[in-house]
Amino acid sequence: MEHSTKTHLVCMALPFQGHINSMLHLAKVLHSKGFFITFVNTEYVHQQLLKHSGSFSAHAGLPDFRFASISDGLSPPDDDSDEYREDIRNILLATQENCPASFLGLISALNDPSSGVPPVKCVISDSFASFTLNATTKLGIPNVFYCTVAVCGFTDFYYCKDLIERGLVPLKSEDDLANGYLDTIIDWIPGMITVRMRDLTSFIRTTDRDELFLNFVMDGAHASSQGTAIIFNSFSELESPLLNACSSKLPPVFDIGPMCLLSQYIPNDSSTSSIGGLNMWREDLRCMEWLDEKESGSVLYVNFGSLTNLTSKQALEFGWGLANSGCSFLWVIRPDLVVGDAALLPQEFSEITKGRSFITSWCPQQRVLAHAAIGGFLTHCGWNSTTESICSGVPMICWPFFADQQINSKYICSVWGIGMEIDEDVTREEVEGLIKELMEGQKGKETKRKAVEWKEKAVEAAKPGGGSWRNLEKLIEGIIMKDY
Ligand code: UDX
Repeated sequence: MEHSTKTHLVCMALPFQGHINSMLHLAKVLHSKGFFITFVNTEYVHQQLLKHSGSFSAHAGLPDFRFASISDGLSPPDDDSDEYREDIRNILLATQENCPASFLGLISALNDPSSGVPPVKCVISDSFASFTLNATTKLGIPNVFYCTVAVCGFTDFYYCKDLIERGLVPLKSEDDLANGYLDTIIDWIPGMITVRMRDLTSFIRTTDRDELFLNFVMDGAHASSQGTAIIFNSFSELESPLLNACSSKLPPVFDIGPMCLLSQYIPNDSSTSSIGGLNMWREDLRCMEWLDEKESGSVLYVNFGSLTNLTSKQALEFGWGLANSGCSFLWVIRPDLVVGDAALLPQEFSEITKGRSFITSWCPQQRVLAHAAIGGFLTHCGWNSTTESICSGVPMICWPFFADQQINSKYICSVWGIGMEIDEDVTREEVEGLIKELMEGQKGKETKRKAVEWKEKAVEAAKPGGGSWRNLEKLIEGIIMKDY
């Protein structure tokens, strides 16, 4: 077999659904630019994808787009289970411990002349998969970090260190969670609007300086400084003050998003167009037929992403809020969404919402958001969900859960004007009220108008010749193809 002469890039995804989706979009875009791609997942995720993504196994053997996995030391998922059960903390700990060596092993193997693939020219790492630095530093290969969260999320994580140095974090006691301390104003983060501490990452709500999540996101953001360049899944118009502030302190910065839209402009002749999504749960396509029957803009889409957990009380408040709103809704309840009582919604709920509700466990979200029947999105504000909503011009009701979602929600509601936030202590009355306001009220109309405006700006950036494609060209010429 003739060996490829293409330039070889290795894309390393962080082992979480949203991060994998985002990296896959980027990998497809880079492939369309003529690169040979090896897309790497950790072993646990790889096994999960083999179970649920038909196209994954079928296309693992494309000549110039390959999938590979590295050992993370976790036990493989249970064969009979349809749930993605491994605890996030275990995943992070196992990744940090085992992946520096296994990633080095993979790159060394790919670079062996007998491997049959071109030598690795550059690694593209999720910016929170900085374990790749071990290999790229040892082997002298450039490492471009791909930031899969927003620039506001990245900045939030980056400045956790300053919050600690100023003595604001960790909290002095648990009382600080409820005594108004979280309303402390933070107006000194470069490029960021004035916020309250409660708008910043939920990971600062700890009394423990060594808390795993806090240190993971903070160290991850700072490790980006060691990258050859940083790519953001955002676009200039959306986050320009933050992008400018990042440019002044980090390696070269390129905003080339929204990636979910950029990947839709790949020419049809690209062989990767046949690779679908990579799903950790089985997609239920029947919801698309159900949406086809609904009037334009009449359905609220409810989805809390891949990692959120609700207590059964919270799930009931959302459920009854949806039921009492009288609105049609498509609600995705992942098998592991609700902690505790599995049988959460009573028979009465099904009777009241009959004909106007569709509940399933996983759906093709990007297609759902693009469907004409969708009029609003009740979301946890993960960055992928946020960008996918923006790209479809769908206004949001925000219930941020953790990580970067609080700051995403703040920007969605206060800066971009395309959402309304639900209080952390969710009640059915508030859910009902906000749904009515978004779907029928005056504020809803204004929010929808803004959402359509942002969609147009996103299209301007992501269409061929737009700002994001131009930045991508600069990244390829100035960083990836450079001789080091
Ligand atoms: C995690 C973090 O929680 C988030 O804050 C960070 O920005 C990215 O990683 P996650 O819960 O995975 O987020 O949410 P999100 O970023 O929105 O990604 C979820 C992805 O799964 C989206 O691309 C969405 O389209 C997809 N999805 C979700 C589906 O395809 N079907 C579903 O039913 C639900």
